[in-house]
Amino acid sequence: MNTNNSFQRQTDRLIIRQVKQEDADAIFGYRSNAEVNRYQGWIPATIQDVHHFLAYKVSHKINVPDTWVQFVMIKKKNNELIGDMGIHFLLSDATHVEIGCTLSKKNQGRGYATEALKAVINYLFTELGKRRIVASIDPRNQSSINLFERLAFRKEAHLKECLFINGEWVDDLIYALEKEE
Ligand SMILES: CC(C)(COP(=O)(O)OP(=O)(O)OC[C@H]1O[C@@H](n2cnc3c(N)ncnc32)[C@H](O)[C@@H]1OP(=O)(O)O)[C@@H](O)C(=O)NCCC(=O)NCCS
Repeated sequence: MNTNNSFQRQTDRLIIRQVKQEDADAIFGYRSNAEVNRYQGWIPATIQDVHHFLAYKVSHKINVPDTWVQFVMIKKKNNELIGDMGIHFLLSDATHVEIGCTLSKKNQGRGYATEALKAVINYLFTELGKRRIVASIDPRNQSSINLFERLAFRKEAHLKECLFINGEWVDDLIYALEKEE
């Protein structure tokens, strides 16, 4: 398997790279907003939660089955860290990954997530040889549905009350994009 230790890409407005421990403060700044991130499974309560997450939950080697890697998006014009993307390399199928994306509230509505995900999707299909990318979305999360539909993901399933997140059983939409598409 093609595993890599580093990733960095540039788009028109962004630098996308692997997360580092020193990104913790910026990540805590937007990820701790429980209202904006109400459909997310992980909402850090303290900066230590972010340090723990980066030290123990994130793989720093790319393309290892049963691990998550985390990329961050940085605005070229002012070096602001504006969001992150999680990529889950599945244990069950090495050609198949799951992806998720979070932007700070003030940087939403400007096309940054679409721009960053296009670059990462291209990397996953062409350089890592993935065949299928999926996103798991709460049906109430309309901005996330819009994002993945804009990227040509198809809705494949609506699973009823299958995830326990933030104290409640919630439905899950599965969106997918195949390489041929
Ligand atoms: C999901 C999430 C990343 C989507 O962010 P977003 O800002 O809506 O997505 P983009 O950055 O691609 O921006 C697209 C919007 O910017 C607008 N836009 C403005 N300038 C643009 C440009 N230059 N290029 C493209 N779109 C632009 C688009 O019209 C679109 O607006 P619309 O949705 O009202 O039609 C964001 O809502 C989020 O972080 N939510 C909290 C975390 C979360 O729930 N994540 C989902 C986990 S699966």
